[in-house]
Amino acid sequence: MRVTSKVLDQEQAAFLVRRRVARLATADGEGKPHAVPVCFALGRSSIYIALDEKPKDVPVSHLKRVRNILENPEVALVADRYTEDWELLAFVMVRGRAGLLEPDTEEHDAAVRLLRGKYHQYEAMRIEENPIVAIRQENVASWGALDEPDESGSRLLDTIHGRRSVRQYLQKGVPEDLVERVLEAARWAPSPHGRQPWRFAVLRGAETKKRLAEAMGEEWRANLEMDGQSPEIVEKRLESSRRRLLEAPVLVLIFLYLEELDVYPDARRQRGETTMAVQSLGAAAQNALLAAYDLGLDAGWMCAPLFCPEKVVEALGLDARLVPHALLTLGYAEGDPPKRRSRRPLDELVVYRD
Ligand SMILES: Cc1cc2nc3c(=O)[nH]c(=O)nc-3n(C[C@H](O)[C@H](O)[C@H](O)COP(=O)(O)O)c2cc1C
Repeated sequence: MRVTSKVLDQEQAAFLVRRRVARLATADGEGKPHAVPVCFALGRSSIYIALDEKPKDVPVSHLKRVRNILENPEVALVADRYTEDWELLAFVMVRGRAGLLEPDTEEHDAAVRLLRGKYHQYEAMRIEENPIVAIRQENVASWGALDEPDESGSRLLDTIHGRRSVRQYLQKGVPEDLVERVLEAARWAPSPHGRQPWRFAVLRGAETKKRLAEAMGEEWRANLEMDGQSPEIVEKRLESSRRRLLEAPVLVLIFLYLEELDVYPDARRQRGETTMAVQSLGAAAQNALLAAYDLGLDAGWMCAPLFCPEKVVEALGLDARLVPHALLTLGYAEGDPPKRRSRRPLDELVVYRD
Protein backbone atom coordinates (compact mmCIF):
# COMPACT_ATOMS: atom_id res chain seq x y z
CA MET A 1 0.00 0.00 0.00
CA ARG A 2 1.27 3.40 -0.91
CA VAL A 3 1.57 5.85 1.98
CA THR A 4 2.03 9.58 1.58
CA SER A 5 2.64 12.19 4.25
CA LYS A 6 4.38 15.48 4.85
CA VAL A 7 7.24 14.08 6.89
CA LEU A 8 8.71 10.63 7.41
CA ASP A 9 6.84 8.43 9.87
CA GLN A 10 8.72 6.10 12.19
CA GLU A 11 8.63 3.11 9.86
CA GLN A 12 9.74 5.12 6.82
CA ALA A 13 12.52 6.72 8.84
CA ALA A 14 13.67 3.32 10.16
CA PHE A 15 13.73 2.00 6.58
CA LEU A 16 15.80 4.97 5.38
CA VAL A 17 18.21 4.69 8.29
CA ARG A 18 19.01 1.11 7.23
CA ARG A 19 19.70 2.00 3.58
CA ARG A 20 23.32 2.58 2.67
CA VAL A 21 22.57 4.23 -0.65
CA ALA A 22 19.77 6.25 -2.23
CA ARG A 23 19.22 7.97 -5.57
CA LEU A 24 19.05 11.74 -5.67
CA ALA A 25 17.09 13.29 -8.52
CA THR A 26 17.60 16.93 -9.41
CA ALA A 27 16.63 19.00 -12.43
CA ASP A 28 18.20 22.04 -13.98
CA GLY A 29 16.46 25.38 -14.59
CA GLU A 30 14.83 23.97 -17.72
CA GLY A 31 13.62 20.87 -15.93
CA LYS A 32 16.16 18.45 -17.47
CA PRO A 33 16.43 15.55 -14.99
CA HIS A 34 19.58 14.15 -13.46
CA ALA A 35 19.89 11.26 -10.99
CA VAL A 36 22.88 9.96 -9.05
CA PRO A 37 23.44 7.40 -6.31
CA VAL A 38 24.28 9.08 -3.02
CA CYS A 39 25.33 8.21 0.50
CA PHE A 40 23.11 10.08 2.93
CA ALA A 41 22.26 10.53 6.58
CA LEU A 42 18.92 11.27 8.14
CA GLY A 43 18.58 14.23 10.50
CA ARG A 44 15.50 15.29 12.44
CA SER A 45 13.66 16.79 9.46
CA SER A 46 16.37 16.90 6.81
CA ILE A 47 18.46 14.53 4.78
CA TYR A 48 22.14 15.30 4.42
CA ILE A 49 24.45 14.42 1.57
CA ALA A 50 28.16 15.12 1.64
CA LEU A 51 29.95 16.64 -1.31
CA ASP A 52 32.97 14.50 -0.91
CA GLU A 53 36.18 13.75 -2.72
CA LYS A 54 34.84 10.84 -4.74
CA PRO A 55 34.54 12.78 -8.00
CA LYS A 56 38.14 13.86 -7.93
CA ASP A 57 38.06 15.41 -11.39
CA VAL A 58 35.70 18.35 -10.63
CA PRO A 59 35.46 20.86 -7.80
CA VAL A 60 32.25 20.27 -5.85
CA SER A 61 30.69 23.52 -7.04
CA HIS A 62 30.84 22.18 -10.61
CA LEU A 63 29.01 18.98 -9.84
CA LYS A 64 25.86 18.74 -11.92
CA ARG A 65 23.70 18.00 -8.86
CA VAL A 66 25.03 21.14 -7.13
CA ARG A 67 24.49 23.34 -10.16
CA ASN A 68 20.98 21.92 -10.53
CA ILE A 69 20.13 22.58 -6.89
CA LEU A 70 21.32 26.18 -7.23
CA GLU A 71 19.16 26.64 -10.32
CA ASN A 72 16.20 24.64 -9.05
CA PRO A 73 16.02 23.50 -5.42
CA GLU A 74 13.23 20.96 -6.01
CA VAL A 75 14.70 17.46 -5.53
CA ALA A 76 13.60 13.90 -4.85
CA LEU A 77 15.49 11.15 -3.08
CA VAL A 78 14.48 7.52 -3.33
CA ALA A 79 15.85 4.54 -1.43
CA ASP A 80 14.62 1.04 -2.10
CA ARG A 81 14.98 -2.63 -1.39
CA TYR A 82 15.04 -5.07 -4.26
CA THR A 83 15.04 -8.84 -3.72
CA GLU A 84 13.95 -11.71 -5.96
CA ASP A 85 11.24 -12.37 -3.37
CA TRP A 86 8.81 -9.66 -4.46
CA GLU A 87 6.98 -9.83 -1.14
CA LEU A 88 9.94 -7.90 0.25
CA LEU A 89 10.11 -5.04 -2.26
CA ALA A 90 9.87 -1.54 -0.78
CA PHE A 91 10.84 2.06 -1.31
CA VAL A 92 10.67 5.45 0.36
CA MET A 93 10.74 8.63 -1.68
CA VAL A 94 11.28 12.02 -0.09
CA ARG A 95 10.59 15.19 -2.06
CA GLY A 96 11.66 18.56 -0.82
CA ARG A 97 13.80 21.60 -1.33
CA ALA A 98 17.53 21.28 -1.22
CA GLY A 99 20.12 23.84 -0.24
CA LEU A 100 23.80 23.96 0.60
CA LEU A 101 25.02 24.17 4.20
CA GLU A 102 28.27 26.10 4.40
CA PRO A 103 31.10 24.83 6.64
CA ASP A 104 31.55 26.05 10.20
CA THR A 105 27.86 26.34 10.98
CA GLU A 106 26.11 24.36 13.68
CA GLU A 107 23.93 22.37 11.30
CA HIS A 108 26.88 21.63 8.99
CA ASP A 109 28.88 20.28 11.94
CA ALA A 110 25.94 18.15 13.06
CA ALA A 111 25.45 16.81 9.52
CA VAL A 112 29.15 15.88 9.28
CA ARG A 113 28.83 13.99 12.57
CA LEU A 114 25.75 12.13 11.31
CA LEU A 115 27.42 11.21 8.02
CA ARG A 116 30.60 10.03 9.73
CA GLY A 117 28.51 8.06 12.22
CA LYS A 118 26.89 6.17 9.34
CA TYR A 119 29.88 5.80 6.98
CA HIS A 120 33.27 5.18 8.55
CA GLN A 121 34.86 6.02 5.19
CA TYR A 122 34.04 9.69 5.81
CA GLU A 123 36.38 9.71 8.82
CA ALA A 124 39.29 9.78 6.41
CA MET A 125 37.79 12.41 4.10
CA ARG A 126 37.65 16.15 4.61
CA ILE A 127 33.91 16.48 4.15
CA GLU A 128 33.84 19.22 6.80
CA GLU A 129 35.58 21.53 4.32
CA ASN A 130 32.86 21.33 1.67
CA PRO A 131 29.24 22.41 1.69
CA ILE A 132 26.71 19.71 2.54
CA VAL A 133 23.45 19.24 0.69
CA ALA A 134 20.45 19.47 3.01
CA ILE A 135 17.04 18.35 1.79
CA ARG A 136 14.11 19.72 3.76
CA GLN A 137 11.28 17.19 3.58
CA GLU A 138 8.06 18.47 2.03
CA ASN A 139 6.40 15.27 0.93
CA VAL A 140 7.05 11.59 1.55
CA ALA A 141 5.76 8.56 -0.30
CA SER A 142 6.47 4.93 0.42
CA TRP A 143 5.36 1.52 -0.69
CA GLY A 144 5.94 -2.11 0.16
CA ALA A 145 7.31 -4.16 2.99
CA LEU A 146 9.26 -1.43 4.79
CA ASP A 147 9.28 -3.33 8.06
CA GLU A 148 10.72 -6.58 6.70
CA PRO A 149 14.26 -7.33 7.83
CA ASP A 150 17.00 -6.84 5.27
CA GLU A 151 19.45 -9.50 4.23
CA SER A 152 22.08 -9.12 6.84
CA GLY A 153 25.19 -10.74 5.39
CA SER A 154 24.99 -13.15 8.32
CA ARG A 155 23.52 -16.59 7.71
CA LEU A 156 22.50 -16.88 11.34
CA LEU A 157 20.75 -13.52 11.40
CA ASP A 158 18.90 -14.40 8.19
CA THR A 159 17.81 -17.68 9.83
CA ILE A 160 16.60 -15.72 12.87
CA HIS A 161 14.66 -13.36 10.61
CA GLY A 162 13.26 -16.17 8.47
CA ARG A 163 11.92 -18.42 11.23
CA ARG A 164 8.28 -18.06 12.11
CA SER A 165 5.69 -19.95 14.11
CA VAL A 166 3.91 -22.56 12.04
CA ARG A 167 0.59 -23.96 13.17
CA GLN A 168 -0.50 -26.19 10.27
CA TYR A 169 1.51 -29.00 8.79
CA LEU A 170 1.52 -31.30 5.81
CA GLN A 171 0.94 -34.95 6.62
CA LYS A 172 4.54 -35.79 5.81
CA GLY A 173 6.95 -37.57 8.15
CA VAL A 174 10.07 -35.93 9.55
CA PRO A 175 13.24 -38.05 9.28
CA GLU A 176 14.59 -39.15 12.67
CA ASP A 177 18.02 -37.72 12.07
CA LEU A 178 16.55 -34.24 11.53
CA VAL A 179 14.73 -34.43 14.86
CA GLU A 180 17.95 -35.53 16.49
CA ARG A 181 19.81 -32.56 15.02
CA VAL A 182 17.13 -30.23 16.35
CA LEU A 183 17.64 -31.71 19.83
CA GLU A 184 21.39 -31.48 19.36
CA ALA A 185 21.01 -27.73 18.85
CA ALA A 186 18.81 -27.52 21.95
CA ARG A 187 21.35 -29.25 24.19
CA TRP A 188 24.08 -26.80 23.20
CA ALA A 189 22.19 -23.87 24.71
CA PRO A 190 23.84 -21.99 27.55
CA SER A 191 22.68 -23.00 31.04
CA PRO A 192 23.32 -21.94 34.66
CA HIS A 193 26.53 -23.59 35.93
CA GLY A 194 26.42 -25.63 32.71
CA ARG A 195 23.90 -27.95 34.43
CA GLN A 196 21.50 -28.23 31.46
CA PRO A 197 18.27 -28.15 33.47
CA TRP A 198 16.10 -29.49 30.66
CA ARG A 199 14.92 -32.83 29.34
CA PHE A 200 13.04 -33.65 26.15
CA ALA A 201 10.35 -36.09 25.06
CA VAL A 202 9.73 -36.82 21.39
CA LEU A 203 6.22 -37.98 20.47
CA ARG A 204 5.37 -39.37 17.07
CA GLY A 205 2.67 -42.01 17.46
CA ALA A 206 -0.99 -41.11 16.99
CA GLU A 207 -2.05 -42.93 20.17
CA THR A 208 0.48 -41.12 22.36
CA LYS A 209 -0.39 -37.74 20.88
CA LYS A 210 -4.06 -38.46 21.45
CA ARG A 211 -3.43 -39.41 25.08
CA LEU A 212 -1.56 -36.15 25.62
CA ALA A 213 -4.20 -34.06 23.82
CA GLU A 214 -6.98 -35.61 25.89
CA ALA A 215 -5.18 -35.14 29.19
CA MET A 216 -4.38 -31.50 28.43
CA GLY A 217 -7.86 -30.92 26.98
CA GLU A 218 -9.55 -32.00 30.22
CA GLU A 219 -7.72 -29.37 32.23
CA TRP A 220 -8.14 -26.71 29.59
CA ARG A 221 -11.87 -27.38 29.41
CA ALA A 222 -12.13 -26.85 33.18
CA ASN A 223 -10.15 -23.59 32.90
CA LEU A 224 -12.21 -22.23 30.00
CA GLU A 225 -15.42 -23.06 31.82
CA MET A 226 -14.07 -21.33 34.91
CA ASP A 227 -13.43 -18.27 32.69
CA GLY A 228 -17.14 -18.33 31.77
CA GLN A 229 -16.62 -19.17 28.07
CA SER A 230 -19.68 -20.40 26.20
CA PRO A 231 -19.87 -24.17 25.53
CA GLU A 232 -19.51 -23.58 21.75
CA ILE A 233 -16.33 -21.55 22.21
CA VAL A 234 -14.93 -24.13 24.61
CA GLU A 235 -15.56 -26.93 22.09
CA LYS A 236 -14.13 -24.90 19.21
CA ARG A 237 -10.91 -24.03 21.00
CA LEU A 238 -10.40 -27.53 22.36
CA GLU A 239 -10.94 -29.05 18.93
CA SER A 240 -8.51 -26.68 17.26
CA SER A 241 -5.81 -27.35 19.87
CA ARG A 242 -6.42 -31.10 19.64
CA ARG A 243 -6.12 -30.97 15.87
CA ARG A 244 -2.86 -29.05 16.12
CA LEU A 245 -1.38 -31.74 18.35
CA LEU A 246 -2.61 -34.67 16.29
CA GLU A 247 -1.72 -33.22 12.91
CA ALA A 248 1.82 -32.11 13.69
CA PRO A 249 4.10 -34.96 12.58
CA VAL A 250 6.38 -34.64 15.63
CA LEU A 251 5.88 -33.15 19.09
CA VAL A 252 8.87 -32.26 21.24
CA LEU A 253 8.11 -31.58 24.89
CA ILE A 254 10.65 -29.62 26.86
CA PHE A 255 10.75 -30.17 30.61
CA LEU A 256 12.43 -28.21 33.32
CA TYR A 257 14.59 -30.43 35.53
CA LEU A 258 15.67 -28.62 38.68
CA GLU A 259 17.22 -31.50 40.60
CA GLU A 260 20.84 -30.71 39.75
CA LEU A 261 20.74 -26.99 40.45
CA ASP A 262 22.28 -25.27 43.46
CA VAL A 263 20.27 -25.16 46.66
CA TYR A 264 20.24 -22.00 48.80
CA PRO A 265 19.00 -21.40 52.33
CA ASP A 266 17.08 -18.28 51.29
CA ALA A 267 14.05 -18.08 49.02
CA ARG A 268 15.33 -15.11 47.01
CA ARG A 269 18.43 -16.84 45.69
CA GLN A 270 16.47 -20.04 45.14
CA ARG A 271 14.02 -18.10 42.99
CA GLY A 272 16.92 -16.65 41.04
CA GLU A 273 18.31 -20.14 40.47
CA THR A 274 14.96 -21.37 39.16
CA THR A 275 14.56 -18.31 36.95
CA MET A 276 17.98 -18.96 35.44
CA ALA A 277 16.93 -22.51 34.66
CA VAL A 278 13.73 -21.32 32.97
CA GLN A 279 15.70 -18.74 31.00
CA SER A 280 18.04 -21.40 29.73
CA LEU A 281 15.12 -23.65 28.81
CA GLY A 282 13.93 -20.77 26.62
CA ALA A 283 17.38 -20.60 25.04
CA ALA A 284 17.28 -24.36 24.36
CA ALA A 285 13.83 -24.01 22.78
CA GLN A 286 15.00 -21.16 20.55
CA ASN A 287 18.08 -23.16 19.51
CA ALA A 288 15.73 -25.98 18.54
CA LEU A 289 13.43 -23.66 16.55
CA LEU A 290 16.33 -22.09 14.67
CA ALA A 291 17.97 -25.42 13.91
CA ALA A 292 14.63 -26.78 12.66
CA TYR A 293 14.23 -23.82 10.33
CA ASP A 294 17.82 -24.07 9.16
CA LEU A 295 17.30 -27.77 8.39
CA GLY A 296 14.27 -27.00 6.22
CA LEU A 297 11.67 -27.90 8.84
CA ASP A 298 8.97 -25.71 10.31
CA ALA A 299 8.12 -25.46 13.96
CA GLY A 300 5.74 -23.87 16.43
CA TRP A 301 5.69 -23.32 20.17
CA MET A 302 2.73 -24.22 22.38
CA CYS A 303 2.61 -23.28 26.02
CA ALA A 304 -0.33 -25.52 26.99
CA PRO A 305 1.70 -28.12 28.98
CA LEU A 306 2.84 -25.39 31.36
CA PHE A 307 -0.73 -25.07 32.61
CA CYS A 308 -1.35 -28.77 33.30
CA PRO A 309 2.04 -30.21 34.25
CA GLU A 310 0.79 -33.17 36.30
CA LYS A 311 -1.59 -34.25 33.53
CA VAL A 312 1.20 -34.26 30.96
CA VAL A 313 3.61 -36.25 33.10
CA GLU A 314 0.92 -38.74 34.02
CA ALA A 315 -0.35 -39.19 30.46
CA LEU A 316 3.16 -39.95 29.24
CA GLY A 317 4.22 -42.05 32.25
CA LEU A 318 7.21 -39.83 33.06
CA ASP A 319 9.25 -38.99 36.16
CA ALA A 320 7.20 -36.61 38.32
CA ARG A 321 10.25 -34.36 38.81
CA LEU A 322 10.00 -33.28 35.19
CA VAL A 323 8.07 -30.03 34.80
CA PRO A 324 6.72 -29.56 31.26
CA HIS A 325 7.25 -26.02 30.03
CA ALA A 326 6.98 -26.01 26.27
CA LEU A 327 5.72 -28.11 23.44
CA LEU A 328 7.30 -27.70 20.03
CA THR A 329 5.49 -28.95 16.95
CA LEU A 330 7.75 -30.02 14.08
CA GLY A 331 6.99 -30.75 10.46
CA TYR A 332 6.60 -29.12 7.08
CA ALA A 333 4.27 -26.12 6.81
CA GLU A 334 1.08 -26.57 4.88
CA GLY A 335 0.57 -23.89 2.23
CA ASP A 336 2.46 -20.62 2.13
CA PRO A 337 4.60 -19.82 5.16
CA PRO A 338 2.68 -17.61 7.59
CA LYS A 339 3.20 -13.87 7.36
CA ARG A 340 6.03 -12.59 9.46
CA ARG A 341 4.81 -10.87 12.62
CA SER A 342 6.20 -7.39 12.78
CA ARG A 343 8.54 -6.36 15.57
CA ARG A 344 8.89 -3.12 17.49
CA PRO A 345 11.66 -0.92 16.11
CA LEU A 346 14.89 -1.16 18.10
CA ASP A 347 14.70 2.42 19.27
CA GLU A 348 11.50 1.60 21.17
CA LEU A 349 13.27 -1.20 22.97
CA VAL A 350 16.75 0.04 23.71
CA VAL A 351 18.33 2.85 25.65
CA TYR A 352 22.02 3.53 25.39
CA ARG A 353 24.13 4.95 28.18
CA ASP A 354 27.71 5.79 27.32
C1 LIG B 1 6.82 -18.89 25.74
C2 LIG B 1 6.03 -18.90 24.46
C3 LIG B 1 4.80 -19.49 24.43
C4 LIG B 1 4.05 -19.55 23.25
N1 LIG B 1 2.87 -20.23 23.25
C5 LIG B 1 2.16 -20.32 22.10
C6 LIG B 1 0.95 -21.07 22.07
O1 LIG B 1 0.53 -21.66 23.05
N2 LIG B 1 0.28 -21.14 20.91
C7 LIG B 1 0.73 -20.53 19.77
O2 LIG B 1 0.08 -20.64 18.73
N3 LIG B 1 1.90 -19.83 19.75
C8 LIG B 1 2.62 -19.72 20.89
N4 LIG B 1 3.82 -19.03 20.89
C9 LIG B 1 4.31 -18.44 19.64
C10 LIG B 1 4.09 -16.94 19.58
O3 LIG B 1 2.73 -16.65 19.38
C11 LIG B 1 4.93 -16.40 18.41
O4 LIG B 1 6.29 -16.66 18.67
C12 LIG B 1 4.75 -14.90 18.24
O5 LIG B 1 3.43 -14.62 17.87
C13 LIG B 1 5.70 -14.32 17.18
O6 LIG B 1 5.52 -14.95 15.94
P1 LIG B 1 6.72 -15.71 15.22
O7 LIG B 1 7.21 -16.80 16.16
O8 LIG B 1 6.11 -16.27 13.95
O9 LIG B 1 7.79 -14.70 14.93
C14 LIG B 1 4.56 -18.97 22.07
C15 LIG B 1 5.82 -18.36 22.11
C16 LIG B 1 6.55 -18.33 23.28
C17 LIG B 1 7.92 -17.71 23.28
